[in-house]
Amino acid sequence: MHDQNISSKFTVYESSDELSSSEKELLLKAVEARNKAYAPYSEFNVGAAVLLDDGSVFTGNNQENAAYPSGICAERVAVWSAMSHDPRRKIKKIFVTAASDIKEVDRPAAPCGSCRQAIAEYEIKQESKIEIFFTGEKGAIVKAPSIRDLLPWLFDNSMLK
Ligand code: THU
Repeated sequence: MHDQNISSKFTVYESSDELSSSEKELLLKAVEARNKAYAPYSEFNVGAAVLLDDGSVFTGNNQENAAYPSGICAERVAVWSAMSHDPRRKIKKIFVTAASDIKEVDRPAAPCGSCRQAIAEYEIKQESKIEIFFTGEKGAIVKAPSIRDLLPWLFDNSMLK
């Protein structure tokens, strides 16, 4: 028997002023997407922007449904939109931002477990890391340098074949 330690390193930006100009643009695109979220039930609006290796950007937001489990998160809308557009592309960065109509989201809103698993699929497929930035409507921005930092012990297709 032995203990195993998996460590993750995150970068915390105190505000968007500390981001590069291209990262600021991506955050803005995620905010624009967030403002168009369809979240009448939770009133929790999430936007995501995905930067691909050819410089193109795809965005998405959460789409809720009266049958609650039929809704979908912003991250998966954005990632699947990008990957369905051109499966040869690699994902470089994903920005996620959340804002609520009920209470101020003043700390980083981390992607849910299902979205982490969806992102992991593409990081493994493309064999290069995806940087994931997440934030609220104000306050700090967190960068995870790889999905493995958010999802250690992830399930991947090496189990299947
Ligand atoms: N949501 C996202 O879009 N992304 C996440 O990573 C967490 C949750 C959405 C789903 C639902 O529409 C609302 O936020 C509240 O859970």
